[in-house]
Amino acid sequence: MTIEEKYINDASKLKLLNEFSGSKRCGWQSPSNIALVKYWGKKGLQEPQNASLSFSLKNSFTETTIDYSSDDSPGINLTFLFEGKDNPAFEKRIGDYLNSIASYLPFLHQLKLNIQSHNSFPHSSGIASSASAMSALALCLADIEKELFGTLKNDDEFFEKASFLARLGSGSAARSVYGGFVLWGQTGSIEGSTNKFGTRFNLKEKNSFNQIQDAILITSKSKKAISSSQGHGMMNGHPYAESRYAQAKTNLKDLIQSLVVENQQKFIDIIENEALSLHSLMFSSRPGYNLLNENTWKIITKIREYREKSGLMVTFTLDAGPNVHLLHLLKDKNEVENFIKTELMKYCEDRYWINDGIGEGPKKISVLSW
Ligand code: DP6
Repeated sequence: MTIEEKYINDASKLKLLNEFSGSKRCGWQSPSNIALVKYWGKKGLQEPQNASLSFSLKNSFTETTIDYSSDDSPGINLTFLFEGKDNPAFEKRIGDYLNSIASYLPFLHQLKLNIQSHNSFPHSSGIASSASAMSALALCLADIEKELFGTLKNDDEFFEKASFLARLGSGSAARSVYGGFVLWGQTGSIEGSTNKFGTRFNLKEKNSFNQIQDAILITSKSKKAISSSQGHGMMNGHPYAESRYAQAKTNLKDLIQSLVVENQQKFIDIIENEALSLHSLMFSSRPGYNLLNENTWKIITKIREYREKSGLMVTFTLDAGPNVHLLHLLKDKNEVENFIKTELMKYCEDRYWINDGIGEGPKKISVLSW
């Protein structure tokens, strides 16, 4: 039985037989994540063309609460507030998403949902929010199922279903339901890996990569011209598609090895190759496009020069946008912060950067913290 068949089977028991009175509440804080081996290109229903590996962030997250009560009106009955305000565009995206997964969670048609959501990072910071937003929402939905039907009692089951549901909202969100390093996508390199949900990738406790830091240098706060979903679409028929998926496969295998044995040189080589390859795929799409700006390149050059000079493990990765994620080890934090302040902040829009690093993953909350 496929996991979809299992969840559809389970769904026959996820219908409320009696209305309940009053309203109940659930809430989750869930992080954004940064991919080291990138997911770029999808197939079928939100399945990746290649496996990806990310780590979840600590300070960049979404908090979502849902107040829910019985409701017998047809369809999905939903209100949505983002940062305390109506947001019709997001509300529509959430409504469409809930409709698309209602066959797995039929009780969604029997509830009225009042959803509220906040991000810890400014909305206009160029930071991708779909991973944190969709994972926080999916965790709330799994929570409602658990509360109303007593299912998903065991943590593995709970997070697996949350990751499965999150993936259907946004691929990278599948990885945000866990802390630390997370893998998503079927790969021969890791047993139990699957395209359907994310899985933890744990390193030995003393491994220095367990405390990797990420200084996010915001070179532009503007919304990007081409969304990730459009970018994934352009991989269909892309002349380099097959070689890209082969490259990602090799990079993932080598990255896992470099993390396990703490080979910093190899780590740097792979993640910079992944970041620049991602953007090369955008340049060579039809039509080709560029999400990087002059300051992205200035920062990259400075990071490479600083690495040469200092001998420290400083490297970079990029999301589908112009902001640079400067990765380094916890032991070098003071020195690297000094470098950022003296050499890099001038290239950031309004000198804005986010001091972040690997985090422990989602947390259950009862109220929004703002
Ligand atoms: C470059 O997960 O945002 O950040 O599945 O269409 O929502 P959708 O795309 P999304 O793509 C993320 C692309 C990436 C790489 C990554 O996070 O692996």
